[in-house]
Amino acid sequence: MIYFDNSATTKPYPEVLDTFVKTSVNYYANPSSLHSLGAQAEKLVTQARQQIANILGVNQNEIVFTSGGTEGNNLAIKGTALEYRARGRHIITTAVEHASVFETCRQLEKLGFRITYLPVDSRGRIRIDDLKAAITDETILVSVMHVNNEVGAVQPVEEIGRLLKNYPKILFHVDHVQGCGKVPLSLHEAGIDLCTISAHKFHGLKGTGVLYKRANIRISPLLTGGHQESQLRSGTENTGGIVAAAKALRLIHEKFENGAAEKTSQIRDYLIEKLAAIPGVTVHTDPEVSAPHIINFSAGGIRGEVLVHALEQQGIFISTTSACSSKTRELSRTLLAMGVSKAEAEGAARISLSYENTMEEAENFIRILQQTIQNLQQVLGRNQ
Ligand SMILES: Cc1ncc(COP(=O)(O)O)c(C=O)c1O
Repeated sequence: MIYFDNSATTKPYPEVLDTFVKTSVNYYANPSSLHSLGAQAEKLVTQARQQIANILGVNQNEIVFTSGGTEGNNLAIKGTALEYRARGRHIITTAVEHASVFETCRQLEKLGFRITYLPVDSRGRIRIDDLKAAITDETILVSVMHVNNEVGAVQPVEEIGRLLKNYPKILFHVDHVQGCGKVPLSLHEAGIDLCTISAHKFHGLKGTGVLYKRANIRISPLLTGGHQESQLRSGTENTGGIVAAAKALRLIHEKFENGAAEKTSQIRDYLIEKLAAIPGVTVHTDPEVSAPHIINFSAGGIRGEVLVHALEQQGIFISTTSACSSKTRELSRTLLAMGVSKAEAEGAARISLSYENTMEEAENFIRILQQTIQNLQQVLGRNQ
């Protein structure tokens, strides 16, 4: 089997699972309970919070544990909208955000907020001048993803942060779900107020994530109740998942420090070179402005889902667009925003690598893909 669908989710590291099981078996008490077992569980949550804060270069009181990327993005955006709606009702985001940002903004539009969706260039990146031009006295939030989940384009987050330092009343949220552990980002240097990460994208467990919230800003909670997470996210803490998330974050950062991203970039570059050489294939990812692990391409006239299923028959797992929209049969918003034609967008497929993938897998993938495309093109030709 070749698993090239790591942007949809990753396989948990064995050490992460081990941590989850041990924590869940030995520290199952509710961290809010007054007795000593509760205190032990709370201590573990605090340690995990401190470890995550250290890795992200922030303070531990700026870490809010969530259930993952979707919740983090909802909390950041709706939490800001609810808190600051008296100050202004304008939010700026991009045309290529993940559905958890895009649909959240759509919902806010129905509640009377005005949203600007910044366009992107042919490589998938916004232009700073467009952002500058969109800012008004009513703007309360700019939400821009770090790494695009469909094509891998890295947005100029640091530059956006520098611009927004001139607008101290505008909060800056970054969806860092696809960038975490793969493309370095200094939250302080980039002037980020809110930042979303999700552990299952870096070999942690599904249902765990973090929202970084800068200490001196306020957001409204979405989940109210027992006041956990400094009243920002009520609900009994997922102690095992939280401790496992800290472990996964440490492991992915260690791998990054040891050069894993460079190795993955080499595999990515090899794949792009070989894909571009296959007749009829167009590559939509520009490696110059992209993360090391995502490649988007279309295989001349073959629908993305047909290719996905044909490859699956041979033990290869890739995606059409993002995992969330792959079942809705909608064309990729990202590709259309980049100016890719509808016909090409219908054929879009995404390869997403992890640090565990090897060059040998990439070579096998290309060999099988070439054959599969040839076979499918013959069938298509016969049916025309
Ligand atoms: C860029 C981006 N943001 C947010 C999410 C949502 O994360 P989760 O699956 O943890 O809810 C994803 C998941 O694919 C993503 O790729």
